[in-house]
Amino acid sequence: MIDYRNLRIALLGAGSVGSQVARLLLEHGDELAARVGAGLELVGVAVRDVDAKRDVDIPRELLTTDALTLIQSADIVIELMGGIEPAKEYILAAINSGADVVTGNKALLATHGPELFAAADQVGAQLYYEAAAGGAIPIIRPLRDSLAGDRVKRVMGIVNGTTNFILDRMDVQGDSFENALAVATELGYAEADPTADVEGYDAAQKAAILASLAFHTAVPVEAVHREGMTTVTAAQVEAAEKAGFVVKLLAICERLTDPATGVEGVVARVHPALISRRHPLAAVHDAKNAVFVQAEAAGDLMFYGAGAGGTETASAVLGDLVSAARRHVAGGPGVGESVHANLPVFDIGSVTTRYQLTLVVTDKPGVLAQIAGLFSEHGVSVEALQQTVASAAAGRSGDQPLTATLVIITHEATEAALAATVAAVSAHDAVVRVESVLRVEGDTP
Ligand code: HSE
Repeated sequence: MIDYRNLRIALLGAGSVGSQVARLLLEHGDELAARVGAGLELVGVAVRDVDAKRDVDIPRELLTTDALTLIQSADIVIELMGGIEPAKEYILAAINSGADVVTGNKALLATHGPELFAAADQVGAQLYYEAAAGGAIPIIRPLRDSLAGDRVKRVMGIVNGTTNFILDRMDVQGDSFENALAVATELGYAEADPTADVEGYDAAQKAAILASLAFHTAVPVEAVHREGMTTVTAAQVEAAEKAGFVVKLLAICERLTDPATGVEGVVARVHPALISRRHPLAAVHDAKNAVFVQAEAAGDLMFYGAGAGGTETASAVLGDLVSAARRHVAGGPGVGESVHANLPVFDIGSVTTRYQLTLVVTDKPGVLAQIAGLFSEHGVSVEALQQTVASAAAGRSGDQPLTATLVIITHEATEAALAATVAAVSAHDAVVRVESVLRVEGDTP
């Protein structure tokens, strides 16, 4: 029998992830101890209500409502309460008492990450957060460690399972947004209030975390451009499919050179976008997540898996716990968060990408040439154009003129040039309406 020193583990929160962490730690404690070279003793679980019903039976004697006293007695504190306060206070208390911290709290890291990392640095403590983005998917450690010798150019992820479930259902079943959301709610993917998911707030927090790591630069969540996906229509999804694309809510973090100033910086953005059906991210169905990373030397990499779920996310938490415990056993200082590059964080105006515009126009001589002229006047080059003319029977009633639908895909253009083009096109007499404007992302493999 190996005589292990026991490391004392405190767990804050016993919700869907926390209760699974407690279960797995109690069930697999011996195996984890063998991997670490020290026992991992769960010394307490701080909860709001010790009598609340939980998914997992946690021994009554471990439950406490006194988180601060529990924290003082721990070598490693696992924070899975979520929210900003009191989670932030507890994490700072843990760091200041010399404990390492494992957290899955994306909202807290995306808003107060630099403060927490600075506090940890000051005392040589370590903050682990694999569960904060992408659930079970290993993406934090690959960005922080495996790719530490490379230069990441771009991170493009499907990092919200609820919205991927909805968009996938709209694509595969032809469902409306409302119906797909109702199914997501029924299956427990979407919360009663789905705002954080469908408006892209959850994905924006994850984008801030991924961008900060990938580019060694603090990217606050306020700097992430965010557009939700509630405006995506069944017609857009169907048209995308016909054109060889799929609509996904993407979190994109990229290193770029600002076209106006020539300065290098980073941009992080979350919005619905078209990607080729042949792109690896197009194959991410249901509520799954995936992160596609492009690095200078490594080339293209993709990390895929469950982005949520109690047991799945607990896997990421326990991986962090093992890392933290190994560091305790081996000793030595923690690795500080690397923000050495300190690149400027640009807004969406610096982005250059391709666009798909769908316009309904009156079908009469010269219209196509005039619309094409507006693109050219604003320096936006057309890559492909498809015109569908409404048949006389279907498209005309009474005195209404015949209309045509133009689907225009542009070459790369700046957001500013595209916005000016859309404004000019909307104001043109022959344009009945601008049906949709979507960004087109990812190289077509
Ligand atoms: N609500 C998130 C999602 C999971 O749907 O992916 C937690 O980040």
